[in-house]
Amino acid sequence: MSGAIAYISRDTDSAQWKTVLEAGLGPIDFRTLDRLGNTDEIEIALAWKPDRGLIATFEKVKLIVSLGMGVDHLLADDKLPQGVPIVRIMDEGLVGQMSEYALYWALRHHREIDRYAESQRARLWQPLDFIDTIHRRVGVMGLGTIGQDTTRKFAALGFPTAGWSRTAKTLPGIETFHGQDGFARFLARCDILVDILPLTRDTRGILDAAAFARLPKGAYFINIARGGHVVDAALLAALDSGHLAGAALDVFHQEPLAADHPYWTHPKVRVTPHIAGATNPRTASPGVIENIKRLRAGRELINRVDPKTGY
Ligand code: GLV
Repeated sequence: MSGAIAYISRDTDSAQWKTVLEAGLGPIDFRTLDRLGNTDEIEIALAWKPDRGLIATFEKVKLIVSLGMGVDHLLADDKLPQGVPIVRIMDEGLVGQMSEYALYWALRHHREIDRYAESQRARLWQPLDFIDTIHRRVGVMGLGTIGQDTTRKFAALGFPTAGWSRTAKTLPGIETFHGQDGFARFLARCDILVDILPLTRDTRGILDAAAFARLPKGAYFINIARGGHVVDAALLAALDSGHLAGAALDVFHQEPLAADHPYWTHPKVRVTPHIAGATNPRTASPGVIENIKRLRAGRELINRVDPKTGY
């Protein structure tokens, strides 16, 4: 039999992963955190937020698979073995959930649903002025698989949609911006800003006071990427000054969000517990199975991560 596949995550879907992998690969030597056995036998690590230094103890590991689409949880490990290829999942199910989550908050803001809920509580029949969809400009930071899906869906609803990425990208029907200069111009046209960037050295703290100030007054912010992009004090100040209308946040610097964090009770902030997109073993496994087969056949891997760019 080939080497062992170790599931190193504290999530509770190990049995599902074993089932879906065996459906594609036949019987496997599947290990979990509580039963890693002889770690020299581990060929493949399936990882989500592994303990620092753990993968380095798998001396013969040949492939590291990120069980999330983001890989910052792996690259944060300064003991991660150099030169061992890293691949990440590409999960259609997760991609769809992420864009759905962004659309939900954007539409709720766009259609003033919270204000109508207040009117209902006061038994007030009070139609409000509205902004036409063609005048509500949406911007998506990060144009990878999830960002592209999200821009496509906003554009299909008729929102003038733009995207920003580190390097230049062209997408049909989407205005695109890139790099440092493009960032300021991009922000200035975002009535709704959706963050779906990876967390890298370059993107940590990218949404600071200057960035929020560049957004048009009354803008709405949706973060489905990583809390590390945001300078929390700057976001809170922009909300409190009335510059931003609100924020829907699914991700935070520290998760779980501390019980005394101001986000929990801020009237303009909606908090969800990192649920915008959940990895689903059923939809994520085909790419993982393909990569395991490719590794064992000595073929080129798919969905590879470049540790230098961080995605
Ligand atoms: C979730 O945060 C992921 O990276 O897939």
